[in-house]
Amino acid sequence: MNGTINVAIDGPSGAGKSTVARLAAGKLGYVYVDTGAMYRALALACIRKGLDPEDETGIVKICQESDVTISYKGGEQVVLLDGENVNSLIRSEEVSRMTSPVSAYPQVREKLLKLQRNLAAEHNVIMDGRDIGTNVLPKASPKIYLTASVKTRAARRYSEQQERGLDCTPEEIEKDIEERDYRDMHRECAPLTIAEGAVLLDTSDMNIDEAVNEVIKIIDRCKA
Ligand code: DC
Repeated sequence: MNGTINVAIDGPSGAGKSTVARLAAGKLGYVYVDTGAMYRALALACIRKGLDPEDETGIVKICQESDVTISYKGGEQVVLLDGENVNSLIRSEEVSRMTSPVSAYPQVREKLLKLQRNLAAEHNVIMDGRDIGTNVLPKASPKIYLTASVKTRAARRYSEQQERGLDCTPEEIEKDIEERDYRDMHRECAPLTIAEGAVLLDTSDMNIDEAVNEVIKIIDRCKA
């Protein structure tokens, strides 16, 4: 181990990973690393260039040319795409839809892997994503697989999108979540799977506070 504490949280879209990981990291004084946001920033760069999700050559080129960096402002992760703070631009359904295919290309993943491992080597982190426990930080301890039913996840994402004033229907969100789950779990490169030794946490019947407390308990048990 490199001396820093590395906690991995993986799981499907909309399971509440980001919120739970961010709050748990805040309580423990660790840095929260949202790897989905990094992939989202690259997807945004591809959308801006008008690229087709199937255009691997074009996507890999744009991703390699784009600079993604992470900084922290008042404890919040800020994703910079070529120096521009894109936090407020990467949560739309359009970006979500593009991120799934973009993140499936091995050369795109290779680029972000280095950035993610460097952050974990420098700080105590709770890092969330799809392949953190299986691939990015195989020595992370604990590894947590956070999930919830498709219905629960769709309902949560729908109310988030409503709060942001974004136009969509619950049916569209549910269909999107199912498609994204399938793609994230069945891609060749670093698919979403439950890491060996991961603790399974189903948050379908938990509110945020309960889920955060469960995560902290799992982390504490690991330290003991
Ligand atoms: O966690 P999220 O919804 O922000 O992730 C957006 C997309 O990025 C999702 O389709 C899966 C992909 N992703 C990934 O492939 N690997 C990660 N470590 C994080 C996200």
